[in-house]
Amino acid sequence: MNAESPIGLFDSGVGGLTVFREVSRILPRERLIYLADTARVPYGNRSKETIIRYTLETIPFWEEQNIKLLIVACHTASSHALTLLQENLSIPVIGVIQSGVQKILATTTRGPIGIFATKSTIESGVYQTAISAERPDIQLFSVECPLFVPLVEEGFLNHPATTLIAEHYLQHLQDQHLETALLACTHYPLIRLVIQSVLGSSVALIESAEPTAIAAKTYLEKNNLLNTSFPSNPEFYVTDAPEKFVKLAKYFLSQEVFSLKKIRIQEMIAPCLKNAFS
Ligand code: DGL
Repeated sequence: MNAESPIGLFDSGVGGLTVFREVSRILPRERLIYLADTARVPYGNRSKETIIRYTLETIPFWEEQNIKLLIVACHTASSHALTLLQENLSIPVIGVIQSGVQKILATTTRGPIGIFATKSTIESGVYQTAISAERPDIQLFSVECPLFVPLVEEGFLNHPATTLIAEHYLQHLQDQHLETALLACTHYPLIRLVIQSVLGSSVALIESAEPTAIAAKTYLEKNNLLNTSFPSNPEFYVTDAPEKFVKLAKYFLSQEVFSLKKIRIQEMIAPCLKNAFS
């Protein structure tokens, strides 16, 4: 691996393109390979065991790509499988949790803080633990918002149904005087305006995509791995329905998705999977 090797980005589906977009903006010369496990999306309602298995099953794909860094753009996969991926992959891996936590802590003076994520991310407790470890004095309100992902995937970005669901999940927080809230799911930045309108304009909404891209840049700089050659086109891989990915990608990127291939992820009964559950 060297500076010209690509960077991998992994998500359960199309949502990680919010991170892809920021990485392309902040690291425009890097070659990016994006894998979306669209055959098995969503991860957010699944059990910890299944999320770990699905995530670790991408290891052979990543080992073949000769990447210099893997970014796990998915909050659900980062919550449950980041450490195992780091232990089992011979490539450096960063997730979205740490950068999101650092950003919200830097933005919050007194709280309270809202954390909005998939059911599985909230159940993992990773955000709550990381924030409380630094600022035990700050009150946290963690809210599962499972219907946000399908609403975004339907393109209901500014739809009355999305407002109705956002009110259902978040209206009770209006009395809690949140100072900040973390959009701890790849899809939520796309309905940021709806979330903001329900919470009120005084709540600062924090996203992880940009700080994650900055963390990737810092890592590459420190390790002399920044690509200085001419930019090349990104490659996209999906595990199902390429046409759906292309259609949805329009909501996430202002560029067309070319170079898209469908691949099959082999189910692995690898030693690392056995260890993961022991
Ligand atoms: N990418 C997931 C996340 O950020 C959302 C979609 C899913 O549930 O798989 O948590």
